Amino acid sequence: MPKLRATVHRGTPRAIALLARALQRGELVAVPTETVYGLAADALNPRACRSIFRAKGRPTNDPLIVHVHSLAQLDQLAIRNEAAAAVAKAFWPGPLTLVLPKRSCVPDIVTSGLDSVAIRMPAHPLLRKLLRACDRPLAAPSANAFGYISPTTAEHVLDGLGNRIRHILDGGPCRIGLESTILDLRDPKHPKILRPGAIERPELERVLGRRVSLVSRHLTSAKKAAIAPGMLTKHYSPRTPLELHAKLRVPRSTAPHADEAFVFLCPPSALRKTKAPAANVFVLSKTGTLDDAAHSLFATLRRLDRGKWTRIHAELARGQSALAIAINDRLTRAAAKR
Ligand code: TXA
Ligand code: MG
Repeated sequence: MPKLRATVHRGTPRAIALLARALQRGELVAVPTETVYGLAADALNPRACRSIFRAKGRPTNDPLIVHVHSLAQLDQLAIRNEAAAAVAKAFWPGPLTLVLPKRSCVPDIVTSGLDSVAIRMPAHPLLRKLLRACDRPLAAPSANAFGYISPTTAEHVLDGLGNRIRHILDGGPCRIGLESTILDLRDPKHPKILRPGAIERPELERVLGRRVSLVSRHLTSAKKAAIAPGMLTKHYSPRTPLELHAKLRVPRSTAPHADEAFVFLCPPSALRKTKAPAANVFVLSKTGTLDDAAHSLFATLRRLDRGKWTRIHAELARGQSALAIAINDRLTRAAAKR
């Protein structure tokens, strides 16, 4: 592959027009979404989609999510059932991906040869402008090298893929910071969450009027791999060893762990009295909400991974909220042994 140096574009009308033409020609563009940055290509152009896999070093048995700007565009790609119509109305544009029976125009490279396709209508205003300007559905996995932590800023994309792609659209830090909830609606009577995200399960159940199951978070068996290909247990991983704790203690300032980092989701009570925590203590959410913790989780893991730490200790989220489940899912995958 020739060595490239990506240009980071701001979302001016001129840049949107230029990037829309690049996508129409079959080039790759890294795009902001409200969840994480994606690496986009024309979903109906198999050659363009193949180059996504090459740029990421991603195996082709891991299918892509297709981003659309309208229900009309979804209808060109997939067969919409009533359940899909209901959740799309309630949650789109937003961090929810639907797996539906596909139409024949969707290339096999996008779906890894499955007879279903994953579709999402993103909420980020710049990506919505770009989707309208190029008027093509855009296949886009997260814009990171395969297996590494998903990017939540344009700079993360530049760090990871800057010499493998030409264009990055900078839309600022991603609002949510965790990948979308993936909901399998191939059988509308048995909706299943394949990947937890920011959308609450009770909310989905209310809209669908039935129980929604959560497929176990360790999708390792062959059977599960066939439902959600590419949901490898190990994923989103820093190179530094990561250790998870249901209850993480604040290290004493004189402790023999100065070269190990301690990551808290919310400010621990032991720290509330101290003004300046030790240099190896990191708190993701200053306000104590999981939204803030999710928002900075991946960026903090990336930053620590570049630092001199020999080990990262991270606190698991408590409770059963969507974000607690999603954060623990990502942490568990990131910590899984190779
Ligand atoms: O928030 C997100 O979903 C981000 C942004 C860019 O939209 N995208 C993202 O894509 O996280 P990616 O490639 O990192 O994860 C896509 C996952 C695949 O690994 C696979 O598990 C699932 O979506 N998937 C895609 N097509 C599927 C299908 N037909 N059936 C089941 N699962 C599918
Ligand atoms: Mg990914």
